[in-house]
Amino acid sequence: MSSPVVELKHVTKVIKGKTIIDDLSFTIEEGEVFGFLGPNGAGKTTTIRMIVGLMGITSGEILICGHNVKTEFEDALQHIGGIVENPELYKFLTGYQNLMQYARMVKGISKQKIDEVVEFVGLKERIHDKVKTYSLGMRQRLGLAQSLLHDPKVMILDEPTNGLDPAGIKEIRDHLKKLTKEKGMSVIVSSHLLSEMEMMCDRIAIIQQGKLIDIQQVHDYVKESKQKYFFELDWEQAEVLQSLTISYERVENGIEIDLEKGEVPDMIQFFVEKGIRIFEVKPMAKSLEDRFFEVTAQGEKVHA
Ligand SMILES: Nc1ncnc2c1ncn2[C@@H]1O[C@H](COP(=O)(O)OP(=O)(O)OP(=O)(O)O)[C@@H](O)[C@H]1O
Ligand SMILES: [Mg+2]
Repeated sequence: MSSPVVELKHVTKVIKGKTIIDDLSFTIEEGEVFGFLGPNGAGKTTTIRMIVGLMGITSGEILICGHNVKTEFEDALQHIGGIVENPELYKFLTGYQNLMQYARMVKGISKQKIDEVVEFVGLKERIHDKVKTYSLGMRQRLGLAQSLLHDPKVMILDEPTNGLDPAGIKEIRDHLKKLTKEKGMSVIVSSHLLSEMEMMCDRIAIIQQGKLIDIQQVHDYVKESKQKYFFELDWEQAEVLQSLTISYERVENGIEIDLEKGEVPDMIQFFVEKGIRIFEVKPMAKSLEDRFFEVTAQGEKVHA
């Protein structure tokens, strides 16, 4: 296996005597979308600011492609592209002029490269319009284009979908996929929205009060073979359930059972044979959310 693209080792941040980030360790591999999930104030932005060198590290270390952010700042940072908070854009210039402006500050960016990133983010039509006429989504795209100019290995986006409509969110998602699949980049993305992370990420780290609570492969959450199914049925009729050897949970208007998809028809048949009328069967697809609340609730207990 290749060495990790980003590595955090026991990273801690203390501000004015308060521990904001507490002993955070994880690695990010090449070509993966790594999600950073946590409630407001969990420490997502702080961690990202340390990774991109905008904020010092109190103790521990961060390596980018093997280079230490603290001691080999330039070598480490050349591999990183990112949008932390709002991208810095000149509103009175066109999108293209903004990119040119940036290219002048960073060595070795060709005109061809600018055209390539504009094409990549789908801004070709509007690139010669002034940024002040752009929608939020277009500004995000321009920000992304700008951060791609120096061909980074890792892209870091702090809450990239903030303020975007569903179409804009889908667009960001598609871009992230393209970055990893076509350019082989790794992406770190933060959000406090579970459903969104579920769709975007390969792995998700849950952080709360500066502590790493859990890291999971997304398919462990989402594509787990067993899933909860809701059966709407007449509970009065269902004494037969007492004899059920599998475990179920009684809920309003019915029961919930953990089943593999292939077991669902058998379950329905079982009920029908027992004369129980089934009104509805549906999968309860909210596993990451469940898990998130489960683990963060535990976290809260730890901190109480
Ligand atoms: N410069 C600072 N001085 C003091 N406290 C800070 C500073 N920066 C961040 N904090 C605190 O650190 C904690 C984590 O903040 P951070 O912005 O990293 O959270 P976040 O996970 O990005 O939250 P959000 O979802 O709201 O963006 C918060 O309690 C915040 O008040
Ligand atoms: Mg934040």
